[in-house]
Parts: sequence; structure tokens; C-alpha cells
Amino acid sequence: MDPRLNIIDERLKNIKKVIAVSGGKGGIGKSSVASVLSLNLSKMGYRVGLLDMDFCGPSTHIILGIKDIYPEEDKGVIPPQSHGIKFMSIIYYAGDNPSPLRGVDISNVLIELLAVTLWGELDFLIIDMPPGIGDAILDVIRLIKKIEFLVITTPSKVALETVKKVLKMLKELEIQTIGVIENMKTGESYVKKEIEKLEIPYLGEIYFDKDFENSIGDTERLLKTEFARSIENIILKTFNNF
Ligand SMILES: Nc1ncnc2c1ncn2[C@@H]1O[C@H](COP(=O)(O)OP(=O)(O)OP(=O)(O)O)[C@@H](O)[C@H]1O
Ligand SMILES: [Mg+2]
Repeated sequence: MDPRLNIIDERLKNIKKVIAVSGGKGGIGKSSVASVLSLNLSKMGYRVGLLDMDFCGPSTHIILGIKDIYPEEDKGVIPPQSHGIKFMSIIYYAGDNPSPLRGVDISNVLIELLAVTLWGELDFLIIDMPPGIGDAILDVIRLIKKIEFLVITTPSKVALETVKKVLKMLKELEIQTIGVIENMKTGESYVKKEIEKLEIPYLGEIYFDKDFENSIGDTERLLKTEFARSIENIILKTFNNF
């Protein structure tokens, strides 16, 4: 029994909601949604933390333009704050160096980060998940008792088929799924129907936003995008009783 597992419960006990932004496929907008969701929630006055769990390809610091701030140590690691978001990522340990990690090492980095980080009181801890439906998802389920999943898909048949597998797996493991967001929509699609067939909430859509890429790294611009407005609507609809 790893003693750090008990510490993790203690570290997360004052966090109301822990949300893993996942989806299975790569490049479907998980990090973009996790970043802008954190930003919007923080602007709305919620206390927010963002954990970048993509240890091999961390990117939320790039999307939010987080630089020149570092964690401090005081009986644990205090995450630095940017735009009101408490932020933790492997970049504070690996810098810009590649961090090609194998399965058990990835689990160990996650355990270590969860055991040392002092999030304090939060309304939301958002976790940006790496692509894939294996180790990372199983690790957060094993390590974070109150984990809930926010699942991203695109209108692509290929993405949707993987997302259905993720949803099925979460259902079998009896893990709470908040719902599905359809990202990069361009026109008519059948995603909503397909998700509702599975009796999972379809939370809303984000259209392909040509201004998004140019706004990366600049939070003021990000907040003005259609992308951010769509996320705001989804938050208002999904967490209005929170
Ligand atoms: N709605 C959108 N409109 C336009 N561009 C978008 C949209 N959503 C995401 N993108 C772009 O798509 C690319 C991939 O997005 P992102 O990195 O968030 O995906 P990801 O699912 O986290 O990828 P990975 O699996 O590699 O972690 C980024 O360049 C981002 O700017
Ligand atoms: Mg990503």
C-alpha cells in the first residue's frame, strides 16, 4: 500500500468538484476546453485549479499563456496562480525538455503531483487528460474518488466511435459522467442524437472558430472568442445549481 494514496484524499478533501476533461482521441480540443473552461469559471468567481495531466505533451500553459510563475514550497507544493487559476503541470519539473514516460512512470508522476500539491479550497479542479482510453483514465479513477468526466468529441465518426467506448467504460465502472461537448462543429451533425441514445447528457456544441488559434496564449483575446462564449453557455446550463 502506497502511503501517498492516503495523502491524496487529504489533499483533495476541500475541492468540491474534480473534473477530468477527456475524450479518447487526440487533437479533438480537450486541452482547449480544459483551459478555457478554467478561465471562464475563474472569471465567473469560482475558485479553480487546473492540473495538466498530459505529461508527454503538456499544452494548457501554452493556451493560457502561463509563463514566469513558479510553484513555491511550504510543507507541500503551492501551485502558482494565473488569472485566478491555480496551475500545476509537469513543465515545473521537466521544463521544455521532452518527458517520454512509460506506463508505471506516468502513474508515479500523477501520484506524486496529487500527493504534493496544496490546492487548498476549490470549487473546481479541472484535469486536462492526455489522449487515449487506457492508463490515464484508469489512474484518475483509481486515485481520485470523486472524479467526474467531461467528455469531448468532434463530429468525426472516428472520434465519436472512440468517445462511445469511453462512455461505455465509464458507465461500466460506475463513474459519474457530466456529459459530452461537441467541439469543432461545422454544420449539421448527428452527434447529439447518438449521445442521447446512450442516455448521456449532450451539454452543447462549440463551432470551429477560426479566431481560436490566433488567440492562443492571450487570455483577453481567448475570452472574446466564440469558443469561450460557447463554453460560458455550457457552464451556465450545466453548473447553474452549483
Ligand atoms: N473549436 C475550435 N475551433 C478552432 N480550433 C480549435 C477548436 N478546438 C480546438 N482547436 C485547435 O485544435 C488543436 C488541437 O486542440 P487541443 O490541443 O485542445 O486538442 P487535444 O484534444 O488536447 O489534443 P491532444 O490529444 O494532443 O492533447 C489546437 O491547435 C486548437 O487550437
Ligand atoms: Mg491536449
